[in-house]
Amino acid sequence: MAYIHVDRAVKFFPREDGTEMLVLDGVSFDSKAYGITCLLGPSGCGKSTLLNVISGLERLDRGRVEIISNHRDTGARPPKLGYVFQDPRLLSWKRVEDNLIFALKGMKVPPSEWQERVHKYLDLVGLLEFRKQYPLYLSGGMRQRIGLARGLVVQPEVLLMDEPYSKLDQLTARKLREDTLSICALLKQTTLLVTHDVEEAAYMGDRIVVMSARPARVVDIFDNPFSALERNLDDVHFIEFKKKVLQTVLNLVKEEV
Ligand SMILES: Nc1ncnc2c1ncn2[C@@H]1O[C@H](COP(=O)(O)OP(=O)(O)OP(=O)(O)O)[C@@H](O)[C@H]1O
Ligand SMILES: [Mg+2]
Repeated sequence: MAYIHVDRAVKFFPREDGTEMLVLDGVSFDSKAYGITCLLGPSGCGKSTLLNVISGLERLDRGRVEIISNHRDTGARPPKLGYVFQDPRLLSWKRVEDNLIFALKGMKVPPSEWQERVHKYLDLVGLLEFRKQYPLYLSGGMRQRIGLARGLVVQPEVLLMDEPYSKLDQLTARKLREDTLSICALLKQTTLLVTHDVEEAAYMGDRIVVMSARPARVVDIFDNPFSALERNLDDVHFIEFKKKVLQTVLNLVKEEV
């Protein structure tokens, strides 16, 4: 069991003119344990900044972010995180399997486990037969699948995904969302997925945290009434739920203009 606890997170960035810009304005939420939590907010509101805080790349000015996990024997060890980015950032000179092994080495996973892990996660994303291929010879969608396998192969306590489908064409993105949803459900993978797409959030999120434009505040939190495997984009009840989330986002836009 693992989840992210964000408590009154405040973050400023310095501006060129020496003043400070408020980016996160007291953001608080708990992510789902075992499920996908979507952070839904407009461009520039501070979603990636919050991921950077969770991964330790940025520090908060006030408040705290904690990963609560019963896989951790001591508080001293940093939490194990997996990352999937908008651009899969694969090493082009390494074969697919070596890209995954690179991540395993980084996490100090013993070499005796590498083959089994690589096999399991490439199989899950449906690309086992491409394990000896170089990323350059794969399609964009396939590369993003390898990115997902690389994020999962370290068996992270929390998987962080930052707009992972936004560079893919509509059909590829749709298929990859479906597959990510069932893989994460199967693995009971605690995941934080950043998006600015309402339909994606309603489809992927067991919990949806709606954020305002910068400075980001949490405006609403929805728990999805449908379990991961019951969600159907064309179902009238799902469409009703999506509309409810959309209405919250539209009300925000109205307040801001
Ligand atoms: N290291 C930094 N130094 C100064 N300002 C920064 C830094 N990183 C981000 N910002 C600013 O903080 C704000 C939030 O940026 P962030 O990248 O977190 O937004 P976002 O919600 O992820 O946007 P997008 O949806 O476009 O990816 C932006 O105005 C950005 O310019
Ligand atoms: Mg971003």
